[in-house]
Amino acid sequence: MKKQKLVATTFAGLENVLAGELLELGADDVQIGNRAAYFSGDEKMMYRANYFLRTALRILCPIETFKFRTADDLYIKAKSIAWENYMEHNQTFAIHHTVFSELFQNSMFASLKVKDAIVDRFRFKFQKRPSVDPRFPDVQFNLHIANDVCTISLDSSGESLHKRGYRIAQTEAPINEVLAAGLLKMSGWNGKQNFLDPMCGSGTIAIEAALIATNTPPGAIRKDFAFQKWKSFRKDDFQQIIEEASVCKPEGKIIASDVARQAIDITSKNAEAAGMGKFIQTKISNFKYLDAKLESPFLLFNPPYGERLDPGDPEFYSMIGERLKHHYENTTAWIISTSECLKTIGLKPSKKVNLLNGSINCTFRKYELYKGSKKD
Ligand SMILES: C[S@@+](CC[C@H](N)C(=O)[O-])C[C@H]1O[C@@H](n2cnc3c(N)ncnc32)[C@H](O)[C@@H]1O
Repeated sequence: MKKQKLVATTFAGLENVLAGELLELGADDVQIGNRAAYFSGDEKMMYRANYFLRTALRILCPIETFKFRTADDLYIKAKSIAWENYMEHNQTFAIHHTVFSELFQNSMFASLKVKDAIVDRFRFKFQKRPSVDPRFPDVQFNLHIANDVCTISLDSSGESLHKRGYRIAQTEAPINEVLAAGLLKMSGWNGKQNFLDPMCGSGTIAIEAALIATNTPPGAIRKDFAFQKWKSFRKDDFQQIIEEASVCKPEGKIIASDVARQAIDITSKNAEAAGMGKFIQTKISNFKYLDAKLESPFLLFNPPYGERLDPGDPEFYSMIGERLKHHYENTTAWIISTSECLKTIGLKPSKKVNLLNGSINCTFRKYELYKGSKKD
């Protein structure tokens, strides 16, 4: 692949962090988009983006962008694409779609039109047709429709990159891996300071923190990427990219604690699966009584909130505030929760970022904790 335009998709609110990661990776022409960052690079940069980016969900290689008027027009234009350049008739394919358009009541319908266009083109040209395999396709395409503009891309990732491969078990409301990594990056945690997640659930935040602290690429745990099945895949080049990683031991301590024994069992299993087991200390403890024996730990956590988990105690957030104020001085705590829940925390945030956690509107807040008043 010569240098071409590429797209890394992400969650709303993480675009800046993703663009920063791309610049660090050495990508060219980095631009911030809507739930995406655009960049350019060759095949090796595409491998690198898949393997190293912590806040990307997919790396797409656009094939064609065109305007269309109707569903039939979409079919005709999609049929004119040289799909045979991207797969053989005896390979399987799948189409992952995102459709925001009044032209389609049902986004699946747009995807079916493109599927028909692919199959009909192969039938017409080669008298043979590729089959659809939604679960384990040889080639995965991405269809993005915004109003009357359609972009078709090759999806070089396959399964979303948040599926790192370490989540073998989970508690009730786990945070997405990409969101957890994005929060850590956004918080400015340097990867060296002691770290504490006192309500760790299935351990995602602590595991992502350990991956950052040890410089472990998120792709290192994953079994495969879609590009490995492409005709153009260069195994040696990918191996070279894998060898670019310089993994180290964490400088600070990383502690994950939770009131529920089951959460700690799950965190330990997931941490082991991520290869981070030896770097994360776990502890069963109610935050109200937690003595983490850690000097000035940087805290980042998502306590239970309304719609997903019932904290079961109206005083819950004021307990968190009290605890932070009196037991975690001269450090920083970041919390992701709803504005409603955080009303009773009794601490003044120095920063607020609005984010979605799944479909829930959340706020990610920074609390700077000082001994006495800030002025002192
Ligand atoms: C929203 S979940 C955290 C999800 C987690 N970030 C993950 O990725 O799985 C909140 C967690 O807080 C824990 N929790 C609730 N009350 C607690 C308390 N008083 N002390 C410590 N942990 C508590 C729950 O057991 C639950 O695992």
